[in-house]
Amino acid sequence: MILIKLGGSVITDKAIYRTFRQDTVARLADEIARAGQQAIIVHGAGSFGHIVAKKYALQNGLTDPAVQVPAAARVMCDVRELSSMIVEELLAKNLPAVSVPPGSCYVTEHGKIVIKDEETLRALVNLGLMPVMFGDVTADRTQGVAIVSGDQLIEVLCRMFDPSLVVFVSDIDGLYDRDPKTDRKTRLIGEVTAAKLAEIPAETTVADVTGGIRSKMAAMLRMTNGHRECVLVNGTVPNRLYSLLKGEVVTCTTAKGGLE
Ligand code: IPE
Repeated sequence: MILIKLGGSVITDKAIYRTFRQDTVARLADEIARAGQQAIIVHGAGSFGHIVAKKYALQNGLTDPAVQVPAAARVMCDVRELSSMIVEELLAKNLPAVSVPPGSCYVTEHGKIVIKDEETLRALVNLGLMPVMFGDVTADRTQGVAIVSGDQLIEVLCRMFDPSLVVFVSDIDGLYDRDPKTDRKTRLIGEVTAAKLAEIPAETTVADVTGGIRSKMAAMLRMTNGHRECVLVNGTVPNRLYSLLKGEVVTCTTAKGGLE
């Protein structure tokens, strides 16, 4: 079993509301199908989720239900539509994909997933189906609503299914030691280990365009152990995901060995 997260920036144009990158998703579905491994897919929300969720501050919970509840319904509809389009592309490649909306089966507490029932997902996997989960709005015990990210779901699924490999499909080649968009001297970090993480000064905040290098390294390392690696790979480059899944050496960042 492997877990694959398709980042929102790969499958959508994050700047334009509800823009689906069908060609890219069709190609990635083909790469996953050709690799021939049992997988669970998680995808981000991209412009089907972030734009409206941010506008109505859904991540902070309900402060103005009259406005935010309809906005939550809008986002939930949009991410379900995105998920259906992704499932269509997987089905077209003969993968038995089924969309499992987290907001319809998981509840959160302070934005953290509290799993109540694992049976559905396990049963789907046992049937040979390929669950497709995604960043979604959830009902939250403490704040009314919350946003669960695909990354959060991957961590939960990792604990549930003990996959042999976790792959983050992004639009960058891997983690960088400096911001590749502004710093020419930047270098790709090929391997992330707990020892390497300890070498990075705590004040280093620039990793890639979206966040701090230490927290990304730590998040990737948290999902590794003696037998499981976690890889960040560029899904905008044709066949890179396929080659990685086939065990070939590709440009990427690999975390290994656990966090301790
Ligand atoms: C966000 O999910 C979910 C919503 C905004 C509803 P992710 O955080 O996993 O999405 P991407 O990958 O950043 O687009």
